[in-house]
Amino acid sequence: MSYPRIVKAEILKNFPLCKDIYALELSLSQELKPLPGQFMFLKIFQGFGESICRPFVFNSFNEKTVIIYKIVGEGTLALSKLKPGEILSAIAPLGKRPFSSNQENILIASGVKLAAIAGLQSPELFFIEENKGEREILQYFQLKATILKTKEELFEAIKPKAGKRFSLSIQSELALELKSNFNIAGEIFMQARVACGWGACYGCAIETKSGYKRLCIDGPVFNLEDVYRVN
Ligand code: FES
Repeated sequence: MSYPRIVKAEILKNFPLCKDIYALELSLSQELKPLPGQFMFLKIFQGFGESICRPFVFNSFNEKTVIIYKIVGEGTLALSKLKPGEILSAIAPLGKRPFSSNQENILIASGVKLAAIAGLQSPELFFIEENKGEREILQYFQLKATILKTKEELFEAIKPKAGKRFSLSIQSELALELKSNFNIAGEIFMQARVACGWGACYGCAIETKSGYKRLCIDGPVFNLEDVYRVN
C-alpha cells in the first residue's frame, strides 16, 4: 500500500450524473493506485484566497482518477462549479484499511456510496437507489446490479443469501439490521467527519465493539462484527 503524498490534480471533466451527484475526472501529477475505500483530501479554492479541504473516496477507472460526489454543503457546491483545466492540490491515498480483495463477497451499495466499492470484484452487486436517477452512477462505472428501491425489497433479495459474506457501503444502521436478520458477515465502509487524515486529532473516531477507532487509520473499512449497535 502506498504512502500519502501531495499531488497536483488537474480537472479533466466535472459534470452531473444526476440531480446533485457529479463525476469529477482528474489527471494526477503522480500515478496513484487507490484501493477500494481509500480517499483523498482535495483543497478547493472558493475565491478571495479562501480554500477548504474535503475528503473524497476516489477510484482509478478507465485510466483516469475519478471522484463521484454529492452536493451536500459549501465545499461540494464550490467543487461543482470548477472547470476543466483548473488545478487542485490533493493529499492521497488516505485510509489504511481499504476493502479486502475477497472476490467471493456479495456487494451492497446505496446511492453515491457505490463509489467506495466500485473497484471490487464480486459475484453479485445489489444497488439501493435512494433517489431518482442514481442508477447513472452504475452506468458510469459500467456495473451490472440488481436495483432495489426499498428496505423490504432489499430484505427479500438478501433472504436467500443468509449466512454469506458481504462487502457493504450502506448506512451502518441498515447493515446491522441485515446482520441481525440474516446472520451475514463481512466488511463495511464507514463514514465520519475527517480532519487531519493521518491519525493525530481523533476527530474521525467512531465507537466499535473493541473501543474507539480512527476512521483514517483503522478504517475506513471495518469488520461488520465490530460495528457498534446503539441500544
Ligand atoms: S482525521 Fe484526525 S485522527 Fe482521523
